[in-house]
Amino acid sequence: MFTIIPLVPSHQPAIDSLLDDRFGPARRNRTAYRLRDRTELLPAYSFVALDGDQLVGSLQCWPIRLKSVGGARLPLILLGPVAVAANREGEGIASALMRASLAALDADDSPPVLLIGDAPFYGRFGFSAAATRHWELPGPVDHDRLLLRGPTTGLPRIAWVEAAASGNPSRPAKVA
Ligand SMILES: CC(C)(COP(=O)(O)OP(=O)(O)OC[C@H]1O[C@@H](n2cnc3c(N)ncnc32)[C@H](O)[C@@H]1OP(=O)(O)O)[C@@H](O)C(=O)NCCC(=O)NCCS
Repeated sequence: MFTIIPLVPSHQPAIDSLLDDRFGPARRNRTAYRLRDRTELLPAYSFVALDGDQLVGSLQCWPIRLKSVGGARLPLILLGPVAVAANREGEGIASALMRASLAALDADDSPPVLLIGDAPFYGRFGFSAAATRHWELPGPVDHDRLLLRGPTTGLPRIAWVEAAASGNPSRPAKVA
């Protein structure tokens, strides 16, 4: 049994421990961290899974943005990492975290959501690599794993993904 609740700062030590377990200490060298390290968590879209007082899963979201060749900047949300305790896999915890976060994002008419992850898992939540083929990040990325969810009409074909200032993202640019 588990419950999904919004992430609060007191969860952070247990989240760090979970992420070290699932991704290893070298996780901080990953490209996604170069985006996250310069911004602040979005608590409205970040959730944890608890079993009693034990943290068994977490999902975090961050504000980032996309810069086009012409210099225009569009807000995006970076989703991840998603992690579930190794001894609790296959119980639907990650899926429940995804549903909670995406419901909160959709309720706020959020900007498109970007993540780096396995398309076979995230595809079921509407993520696809179709729009991101020519997007560059501040580090190496496997473009088959650079996945976007949300309206893609009007998004630049060639663009740079960069960290955004902390705080709430602005509403998505309304592009025709
Ligand atoms: C990936 C992870 C989050 C999945 O958590 P989980 O709670 O076991 O996932 P759920 O129980 O909600 O979903 C399980 C389903 O997803 C599938 N799945 C899980 N990981 C998958 C992957 N990497 N690729 C494809 N499918 C995957 C399972 O086969 C299962 O499919 P089914 O519903 O058809 O049987 C968990 O294994 C984990 O923390 N892994 C280590 C960290 C990681 O890789 N995080 C993701 C990158 S940010």
